[in-house]
Amino acid sequence: MYKKVALLGAAGGIGQSLALSLKLHLPEHTELSLYDIAPVTPGIAVDLSHIPTHVKVTGYAGDDLAPALENADLVIISAGVARKPGMTRADLFNTNASIVYNLVEKAAQVCPNACIAIITNPVNTLIPIAAEVLKKAGVYDKRKLFGITTLDVVRAKTFVAEAKNENVKYVSVPVIGGHSATTILPLLSQATLNGLKLEFSQEEIEHLTHRIQNAGTEVVEAKAGGGSATLSMAEAGARFSIGVVRALLGEDIIRYAYVDSSDDPRYTKFFAYPIRFGCHGVEEILPIGSLSEYEQKQLEQLIPILNDEIELGENFKINS
Ligand code: LMR
Repeated sequence: MYKKVALLGAAGGIGQSLALSLKLHLPEHTELSLYDIAPVTPGIAVDLSHIPTHVKVTGYAGDDLAPALENADLVIISAGVARKPGMTRADLFNTNASIVYNLVEKAAQVCPNACIAIITNPVNTLIPIAAEVLKKAGVYDKRKLFGITTLDVVRAKTFVAEAKNENVKYVSVPVIGGHSATTILPLLSQATLNGLKLEFSQEEIEHLTHRIQNAGTEVVEAKAGGGSATLSMAEAGARFSIGVVRALLGEDIIRYAYVDSSDDPRYTKFFAYPIRFGCHGVEEILPIGSLSEYEQKQLEQLIPILNDEIELGENFKINS
């Protein structure tokens, strides 16, 4: 078995770091193809190809992305514009919706069976757009479309470990919902250290929840006009994508992701869950466990927000 990963947006701030991580850490029997409109992209591939790992890298630039997509098993999309201070992820919608629409449309033609993982914001709205594009092309398989929310999980783990002064390696925190502001719902009541439940005061819960929900903005403000998270996002994107590739190669892998959950009427049509991935993508959406009263209230508040963001994506028309 052999798997090909295509990264679209490979010359950008996230793309270049993500390409490096994939070159270093993709499992054996994989190939990486890089695409970006920027002419430097084939050069980035040459640069990466000098690193001695088994992953073969090719790069393509310009208007024709078909060669990058041919025979791809996983397409990762990080193309698009980033936030500046004062903007929300939703403010990126007008620009990024068309970019993602066009890339997914092309993927539907060239590699209709590929899994598609999207980093570009606003994730909550762009995944429903991608689903509509794939439906229109007659190739939609909801097991194969994911919004990457791994950065929320990574941040939750980091911030909780810091707050508790524990080794981050052994801390685990579920994060469900979506990937914007209060739609990001960390389940601190289920946070563990070495598998044992961590205890928090209500003050700690409120502080940590707020920090995890606003962590993207923390980076945007710290970069002061220089964009949003690129390095942590690339690392999170790599953790997720490498997990998916390992699953496609036959391993049983659990990751959080924002997926089509229209069969599950409990929450919204798209929602970030813990997921068991296998060789066809999503094998099983796993239970989220029991929520504290505080989390339950947050969940009830996020549902209408997420529903609106999903509806915006479903109603999107290109060139409108
Ligand atoms: C993040 O969470 O850092 C990314 O989604 C980028 C952003 O705009 O916040």
